[in-house]
Amino acid sequence: MARKKITVVGAGNVGATTAQRLAEKEIGDVVLVDIVQDMPQGKALDILESGPVYGYDTRITGTNGYEETRDSDIVVVTSGVARKPGMSRDDLLKINAGIVKSVIENIIKTSPDTILIVVSNPLDAMTYVVHKVSRFPKHRIIGMAGVLDAARFSTFIAMELNVSVENIHAFVLGGHGDTMVPSTRYTTVAGVSVEELIPKARLEAIVKRTRDGGAEIVNLLKTGSAFYAPSAAVVDMVEAIVKDKKKILPCAALCEGEYGINGLFVGVPVKLGAKGIEQIFEIKLNAEESAALKRSADAVKTLCEQVDKLL
Ligand code: LAC
Repeated sequence: MARKKITVVGAGNVGATTAQRLAEKEIGDVVLVDIVQDMPQGKALDILESGPVYGYDTRITGTNGYEETRDSDIVVVTSGVARKPGMSRDDLLKINAGIVKSVIENIIKTSPDTILIVVSNPLDAMTYVVHKVSRFPKHRIIGMAGVLDAARFSTFIAMELNVSVENIHAFVLGGHGDTMVPSTRYTTVAGVSVEELIPKARLEAIVKRTRDGGAEIVNLLKTGSAFYAPSAAVVDMVEAIVKDKKKILPCAALCEGEYGINGLFVGVPVKLGAKGIEQIFEIKLNAEESAALKRSADAVKTLCEQVDKLL
């Protein structure tokens, strides 16, 4: 089988760690792009030189341009500035919209058939920027947030119950932001709803910690935002596509009527396979969940209106 070509744009913490994880799992050959002179080349060479010790044959190239990315199967966009303490994801909107736009203008010339995975923040709005600039069909534009948010939710539930994280299936909906909607009703531990296992007040605290999960890391790191869990989440999505796993994951997808949302990228359960987003699952929500999702979609809409003014 020919190797897949995966480009990671942005060789900061999220991009470089994504490249490392992809290399270690031999999911495909990797091209790491950044505008900083020599830096992506240095990181790529360093990851390449780990291969003999770690036991992988992944080819990994660093570059400052897009020629090496030509005909990528998947492009992961991590470009943009990260949050500083006290900054919200939304503060990043203006500056990152410009950065992401210029990246996508390059990518659509060199890889017009690629699948795009967007990681830059504010996530749902940046995915909308990618949609506006690329005009790619909706199944080839996917925002990464839900897998990360669900991972955080699972981590805290596993800690609370002192059980394996592998037993937990966390269900999150909505935007990647303060309005995200972790659903306790549909989150299960070995098939049992977490509502049966954790008292309501504790569960509410866990949901709040999940919502604030990004900020918790920013406040601890002080010089940037999370990258280990975000890169792990990206790799899960890339692997589902490369291996055509048909894996159901929460991702930001263009909703056109699903959940009553129209023309916005919002976190929903999707099936990821070789074509990208192969299906959006519309799950029955109760009144409270519907209202929370609507609030979240409204928050995403406000940001997208700002994007419309900028681009
Ligand atoms: C987070 C930021 C990066 O959730 O959005 O960690």
